[in-house]
Amino acid sequence: MRSIIMINVIESIKKIKLPFFSDMEIYFDLGTSVTKIAIKDKGLILREATYLAFNQKVKDYLFIGEEAKSILGKTPDFIKIIRPVVSGVISDFDAEVALVKKFLDRSANLYVSNSMIKPLFRGIAIVPSIATEIEQKAVEESLFKAGLSNVFLVERALATATGCGLNVFSHQPNFVTDLGGGLIELSIIGSGGIIAQKTLKNGGDHMNKTIYNYIYLKYGVILGESSCEELKIKLLNFIDDDRVVTIRGKSLETGLPKTVRVKSSDIKEALLSTFNLIIDSIKELLESSAPEIVDETLKRGIILTGGLSKIPGLDRFISQEIKIDVITNPDYQYATINGLTKLGLRKDELSKLVIR
Ligand SMILES: Nc1ncnc2c1ncn2[C@@H]1O[C@H](COP(=O)(O)OP(=O)(O)OP(=O)(O)O)[C@@H](O)[C@H]1O
Ligand SMILES: [Mg+2]
Repeated sequence: MRSIIMINVIESIKKIKLPFFSDMEIYFDLGTSVTKIAIKDKGLILREATYLAFNQKVKDYLFIGEEAKSILGKTPDFIKIIRPVVSGVISDFDAEVALVKKFLDRSANLYVSNSMIKPLFRGIAIVPSIATEIEQKAVEESLFKAGLSNVFLVERALATATGCGLNVFSHQPNFVTDLGGGLIELSIIGSGGIIAQKTLKNGGDHMNKTIYNYIYLKYGVILGESSCEELKIKLLNFIDDDRVVTIRGKSLETGLPKTVRVKSSDIKEALLSTFNLIIDSIKELLESSAPEIVDETLKRGIILTGGLSKIPGLDRFISQEIKIDVITNPDYQYATINGLTKLGLRKDELSKLVIR
């Protein structure tokens, strides 16, 4: 009994936030598709797929990251591939803790001295603005369980905007569109906060599912998740470059392997309604904003970032539709984590952005 009380006391002490007490600081972007981890003064130390392979027989995680993603659809029944983050929030808490622990063992330990005394690591992580209090707490708790001694949370859009080189405290608002694997976040940011925002759950994963349905209906072929992603990455473009990819799936009719030649125009047709929805959402967000904000957005344009912003010609396509300049952030894969790393160097700004 006494030891349980002791443990509870220690756990509570661990959770007392001692702002910026230790110098060891780790930044986390626990993305739906890709986990990014950076460390203070070192920068990015890990970029890995947010996947785990769980052995149901021995109840252990066998592989993590890219290795687990690469065996998707190819494992015996007792090995289950888990994606612990869905639509930007943790959906499998235990798996996420295991993932973060293993990623930290793999990356952060390289930067910690061999001293017997373990340094106190402070963790700073992002959460999407639509995350509920329970979902925010899940991020916080998962990092505590993974060994962090102190955890702070920042809204994802503010970190992303900082990573795009914007000053979120400026009184001139900026429009940032983060096109991620789980979420598409359209945010107007200024004066240290989010002025207006719209979040769609039609990110990269949803697009892969749409491709699956399209190929199934048009060609009668069942594709695996990785094949659908491959088609999206290799074929989707808005520069009218009609490429072709030959891909193998399972015939709907015979259940046997079947090869299909998929064209860029197929993928564009499959996903056009999703991109039109994104464009309509940008228009709606501007329509519901004050004229001053519309004017500022017209002056500086809209920034695109996140994995999907790499789609060739997407910036020009959106720009033609909304008649506003659209600029793709050159560091599109790392805006959010770079933003956290930058904020880590500006403690006065960071302390104003911490929500938890
Ligand atoms: N060259 C590319 N063309 C098209 N899509 C791409 C390309 N490269 C990556 N992607 C897609 O980008 C998505 C991953 O982007 P990102 O790393 O921004 O997501 P995330 O941060 O993990 O997700 P979220 O922020 O929504 O939780 C995946 O769906 C991936 O298929
Ligand atoms: Mg992201």
